[in-house]
Amino acid sequence: MNSMGKMATKFDHLIVVFATISLLTISAFPSPTLSENQDAEVVGSSTADAEVDQCVGDDCRHDRSYYVANLPLYQVPGVEVGHKQEMELAPGQFFTVITRSLRPLLFEIPHFLSNEDCDHIVSLAKKKELFNSTTLEDLEEYDEEAEEIDMEMEELFKGLDEDKNGFLDIEEIINSLEVAHGGFFSPNDIRQMYKDLHMDHDGDDMLNVKEFVALNETSIREWMDERTSNSGANKIRHSKQTWLQQTTTDNPVLRALRERVIKLTRLPRNVIEYSEQLQVVYYEVGGHYHAHYDSEDREIGPNITCGQMGFNYTDHTNMTYRLCRYMTILYYLNDVEDGGETAFPVANNETFTVETLRAAGNRLYDLSSHCLDSNVVVKPEKGKAVMWYNHYVDGETGWIGDMDNYTLHGGCDVHRGTKWIANNWINVADTPEQQAAFDKYMTDVYRKEKEEGEGQEVHGCRRRARRRCGKLGH
Ligand code: OGA
Ligand code: CA
Ligand code: FE2
Repeated sequence: MNSMGKMATKFDHLIVVFATISLLTISAFPSPTLSENQDAEVVGSSTADAEVDQCVGDDCRHDRSYYVANLPLYQVPGVEVGHKQEMELAPGQFFTVITRSLRPLLFEIPHFLSNEDCDHIVSLAKKKELFNSTTLEDLEEYDEEAEEIDMEMEELFKGLDEDKNGFLDIEEIINSLEVAHGGFFSPNDIRQMYKDLHMDHDGDDMLNVKEFVALNETSIREWMDERTSNSGANKIRHSKQTWLQQTTTDNPVLRALRERVIKLTRLPRNVIEYSEQLQVVYYEVGGHYHAHYDSEDREIGPNITCGQMGFNYTDHTNMTYRLCRYMTILYYLNDVEDGGETAFPVANNETFTVETLRAAGNRLYDLSSHCLDSNVVVKPEKGKAVMWYNHYVDGETGWIGDMDNYTLHGGCDVHRGTKWIANNWINVADTPEQQAAFDKYMTDVYRKEKEEGEGQEVHGCRRRARRRCGKLGH
């Protein structure tokens, strides 16, 4: 509970991971077109030592012979804002990679997907059930928290009173309520809540201990629920989503996309293959995703190691982990009539620090009101990919380093039309050795499934560290 009011980590814990590895289709690997691509030269990158990917056919997905040797982890060079580099990512297929920002290292790639690719992925997603995107804890966990709150209101008050002045001001209230309720509230929303629920007896915009202890958790929750379900305006993430299997599918569009990503990122094949599956997200008018980080930093807690899809890289039975998404590659699957930009509020900001972020309060996070104030705003265009590195590469180890706080980003409100996107997140373990262990583990899982021809579903879990994964449906 004591981290509830921490601005810097406000959104760090809140994304849900529902990646499911369906191993049902594993017995039939394609695909002649993929293996032909292996020797394509990547043009225009200045760093040498790119992966030479020589495997062929079935084995391509499970070749674990090389990655530890190739350090540092590759990053596409940004050179300067506006820089364009041509890359051949499949035989005869060239793509223009445009640098949009160096802080964070951020690129735009027009026409990364063809119109047909986009339509096909949307149709695959439509065939599946779309689920409300949520950043909330599941109900069970929430109730545990609520009980805790009842028991320790005074303790909680102290924890939320960040500046220790004996009052909770509106920012402090916003910080705590958002984390507990997955909503997104402006100061005026909070004033409205004070009014509706008669919370601020003396009308000074702050809550003292007495006012706080008198709070009725249930009525606050009901108020929040109404605000977060009806309009959606107060929701951090207002969209629907589903997951498409890429690792084990025969679908040529999804497989070819993965092959392009392997060429583009120059990361070891298995790092890509054993990353999360493809997440497809659908926004309607008013839909958005307020500014957040896709990955989690070490500061989230001591000894919390990287993991994904319900597994910790080191101990596969331990479901407590932080999400380490080295990279994000986001694809726009349609043209949005109006709105729906992807905004990076602090990109290329010379003076940005965690303190300035805190001082700016909600303004930087609230993309419903402040989308176009952001330093980098990417227009959604069908087929375009946006790619960025959520983490630095550690200078000493050559492996994944600290999270890059400049990667703060989100999806602005859709004003007209709908918006379809897909996310590829590239997960990396804490160390090359742990990556190798995870890789071996996943390789064996896939091999075994293939041999036995049996299906098994591995559910993902919510990405909140310090909590165990529950049995979650979708
Ligand atoms: C996400 C995200 C941005 C967008 O899904 O994590 O940041 O433009 N989306 O939809
Ligand atoms: Ca007061
Ligand atoms: Fe994101």
